[in-house]
Amino acid sequence: MTVVNQSPKRFVLLISGRGSNMQAIVNMAKNRPDIHIAAVISHAKNSQGLVWAKEQGITVHEILHKNYDSRESFDMALQGIIDGYEPDYVLLAGFMRILTEKFVRHFQGRLINIHPSLLPSFPGLDTHQQALDAGVKLHGCTIHFVTPVLDHGPIIAQSAVPVLETDTASELAGRVLQMEHLMFPAVVAYLAEGLVELGDNGNVIYKREVQSLFMFSQKG
Ligand code: GRF
Repeated sequence: MTVVNQSPKRFVLLISGRGSNMQAIVNMAKNRPDIHIAAVISHAKNSQGLVWAKEQGITVHEILHKNYDSRESFDMALQGIIDGYEPDYVLLAGFMRILTEKFVRHFQGRLINIHPSLLPSFPGLDTHQQALDAGVKLHGCTIHFVTPVLDHGPIIAQSAVPVLETDTASELAGRVLQMEHLMFPAVVAYLAEGLVELGDNGNVIYKREVQSLFMFSQKG
């Protein structure tokens, strides 16, 4: 009998603060020998998420923009830290910084973002308020391969969330966040299993059928 002992896929996670998506991914990975969380990096000072990751025994880094004289030099330093971990994938798990084209191209096919809207609707900030202002009945979140265009790129998975008449932006954000916590770990598992990759034509290739549409249910 041949035992195939593949080494785990290596993930580096970038966060900006709270890190609840990162926590959902790390918690899922605890039962997965095929996933190694190599490091969590934050660009925000004293971020809550970094404290939590450190408590879990994960290697953490804080990299502050004020210590760099340009966006390019910051991104080069960030790239150097990430490359040191030789990750298979870099996850933007609530990472609220615009990245330079050079950085994005360096990690092409390995860089994945979650955005709290049904892209291509509502890129940028305040997506839940944007959705309320537009009067849409359906909102949600998207996981995509990152391209140099902000909140743009081949879509791996989306979650659909109803917008209620009475919703405030924060109520809607809470409903979307529940789906983020479900969908992001699921996609990380697909990546670990080699089920999803970026094709040469910028298309998403699924090696076998996986759930790529998630629907909010009141029952959770
Ligand atoms: C999430 O809604 C994410 O989609 C957005 O910022 C939020 C970050 O939350 N980009 P957290 O840091 O994962 O808790």
